[in-house]
Amino acid sequence: MAQYRTKHVDDFEQIVFCEDTEAGLEAIIAIHDTTLGPALGGCRLWPYPNEREAFDDVMRLARGMTRKAAMAGLPLGGGKAVIIADPKTAARPALLVGFGRFVDRLGGRYITAEDVGTSTEDMEIVACETRHVSGRRTGSGDPSPHTAYGVFTGIRAAVRHCLGGDSLIGAKVAVQGLGHVGMNLCRLLHDAGADLFVTDIAAAPIARAAEKFGAHAVAPDAIYDVAADLFAPCALGGAISADTVRRLKVGIVAGSANNQLSEPSDGAALAGRGILYAPDYVINAGGLINVSWDVTNPDLPYDSNLMRARVERIGPTLTDIFNRAKAERRPTNEIADAVADARLSHAQAA
Ligand SMILES: NC(=O)c1ccc[n+]([C@@H]2O[C@H](COP(=O)([O-])OP(=O)(O)OC[C@H]3O[C@@H](n4cnc5c(N)ncnc54)[C@H](O)[C@@H]3O)[C@@H](O)[C@H]2O)c1
Repeated sequence: MAQYRTKHVDDFEQIVFCEDTEAGLEAIIAIHDTTLGPALGGCRLWPYPNEREAFDDVMRLARGMTRKAAMAGLPLGGGKAVIIADPKTAARPALLVGFGRFVDRLGGRYITAEDVGTSTEDMEIVACETRHVSGRRTGSGDPSPHTAYGVFTGIRAAVRHCLGGDSLIGAKVAVQGLGHVGMNLCRLLHDAGADLFVTDIAAAPIARAAEKFGAHAVAPDAIYDVAADLFAPCALGGAISADTVRRLKVGIVAGSANNQLSEPSDGAALAGRGILYAPDYVINAGGLINVSWDVTNPDLPYDSNLMRARVERIGPTLTDIFNRAKAERRPTNEIADAVADARLSHAQAA
């Protein structure tokens, strides 16, 4: 039986608890804010130990999507979904079909896409039940190479801000997480001449990065102790905490992971140690910018050159944030939040 409970919490417009006992589906869709447009955000499939942890994650992620879209100047709101399941489950297609039906019931207020644990193939299954799916093969496709390219562009901007030039030849970069984004980022960094130190909780991607890019393998917890120019968190959230800020031996933190700071105050702690932080939802917006094509131009063929140029704007956006943070002696995450929230308030008042 498919059941649908909806709840209103804090500043969220709608939180939907989805349960389909036949399909074995347990999912949550969080619509944070649709002032700027429909809430677009990926669907994470993850074996959360309980509903509370899934709930906290989807709330944090959806809030971040509102700021990400506002900062990137997109006509989109913030939302996100999580399916509580083991990614290796045999029931995966049934879960995705069930999830698609719930997305459809929201009538386009929430548009889904790939995220951690889901793929372009999964979105084709979801699309059998609803048209409110982006990042499909027939449209803008897998967002992760575009996210990686945006992070790469942002890394160049950060290096330029710190060193005056943006050459990455010989730069030491520690990459945490070698999934869809992390591996693409490694390729771009390797092609630009960087020396890579990589980790993952799975052994296979580390071996692949070592073979393809000559990357040095590092144990998962030791990645925070690598003496490098830059740390790129590309796994799950919370990589930056009071403990890891103390341990980092880098000049820059710039990666794709959402919710990198365990607490907003970790941004100030990074700044206090002289580490330049590229705010997560600014530097990782490339995938969202790219999938926005499907929403804003549903009837036109995808224009890769135009979207690449739009993703490249992440560099100048970050440079503005870095300059303002320096001038105002404030952490970069506070500046980013102030800019994104001001855009949202302006739109809400209009
Ligand atoms: N895919 C996108 O377009 C996109 C867009 C914006 C933000 N992000 C964010 O970037 C991050 C990576 O996304 P992805 O699509 O590459 O996901 P993915 O699931 O393809 O890859 C994540 C990788 O991180 C590894 N990992 C998990 N925990 C780890 C740990 N503690 N230490 C080291 N490795 C660990 C996993 O084994 C996996 O290889 C996520 O936080 C995601 O929300 C992704």
